Amino acid sequence: MSKTEKVIAMYDKYVMKTYTRTPLCLAKGKGTFAWDIEGNGYLDLFPGWAVSGTGHCHPRVASAVAKQAKKLMHVSNNYYSEEQGKLAKAIVDSAFPGKVFFGNSGAEANEAAVKLARKYGGATGRFEIITMTKSFHGRTLAMITATGQDKVKYGFEPLPAGFVHVPFNDIEAVKKAVNEKTIGVMLEPIQCEGGVNIADEAYMRALRALCDEKDLLLIFDEVQTGIARSGKMFCYQNYDIAPDVMTLAKALGGGLPIGACIAGVKYQDVLTPGAHASTFGGSPIVCAAALGVFEAIKKEGLVKNARVMGGYIRKKLEALKKKYGFIKEIRSMGLIIGVELGIKGEDIYKECMKEGLLLNCTQETVLRIMPPITITKIEADKAISILDKVLSGIKI
Ligand SMILES: Cc1ncc(COP(=O)(O)O)c(C=O)c1O
Repeated sequence: MSKTEKVIAMYDKYVMKTYTRTPLCLAKGKGTFAWDIEGNGYLDLFPGWAVSGTGHCHPRVASAVAKQAKKLMHVSNNYYSEEQGKLAKAIVDSAFPGKVFFGNSGAEANEAAVKLARKYGGATGRFEIITMTKSFHGRTLAMITATGQDKVKYGFEPLPAGFVHVPFNDIEAVKKAVNEKTIGVMLEPIQCEGGVNIADEAYMRALRALCDEKDLLLIFDEVQTGIARSGKMFCYQNYDIAPDVMTLAKALGGGLPIGACIAGVKYQDVLTPGAHASTFGGSPIVCAAALGVFEAIKKEGLVKNARVMGGYIRKKLEALKKKYGFIKEIRSMGLIIGVELGIKGEDIYKECMKEGLLLNCTQETVLRIMPPITITKIEADKAISILDKVLSGIKI
């Protein structure tokens, strides 16, 4: 039995089968590289579902965590810690004026946003949130309801009330869905899991205007798009507008679990003491990791690197599109990249793995490429040449 088989046997016996897993047991990571337990190396262009955004084990994150682990790991939220205060400031300073609530995951950050919106709407009896088809907002009961994909809802009914879905990038559909119960509109500026669908500029501006006109909260789920990946610190900054509430998770913690809900000044005090809480939320060790992420982004110019390398990889992919007729479209913003195929992507994903390249396939036909924002040209060239080799072997 190989080491991998031994681990898989433990999972088979002791871990609930809630995921479709690839038979790969990762044991080590550094930047854009990861190694499995057998010692094989991989270029990882989708590290940890976009969690390791600054690359595996970024030295600034790792040393911040190691230092904090020896000092103080956890503080209950009825006390204060310097690290949580500093992280909230860092987020607000790079986003918009407001305040932050910390949890542990994307779903939890979104729950906080929805609870905040409902609390605000309570006075006028408004509670309904409009979300988009093909969206993904997490796996809690409320978030599978918010998510605009039936596949996450089956078997969990009855679902909580108060969410309606409309097609993405369709402002008229949003306008039609607004009624006397509506309190907010929630969307991802780029639907990553939904197939890398990018919000149009005119749509975003019209959404902002509609929310202002109707006193609705505009909530951006930047759990996957945030933290420099889009070529700006937050994806909404590529548009000429700002949300009322934004949620973050994934890359914010550089590998440690974190969720954050940021509310603008008008809404920052809606959630009052006792209204919402999270035992682990904003613990010093996790905040120290996130501060390490902020430091890395600033000191290493990673926002610019995401923009430059995003353009570089896109150009290379456009060349592959000319070569392979089954590539239908490349959609990207910075290092959020989707390659829409006219065929199923599963075999390509599997072949890439055999050749030492990790990427993702979503919605069956979209290769999702979200490399660390630290990626270099040499790494990108290597990844593209592996992909090219794999694509050249595809028989259709
Ligand atoms: C846009 C978006 N929102 C929310 C979530 C849920 O995050 P988590 O799995 O940390 O709860 C995800 C996870 O993929 C996501 O991509």
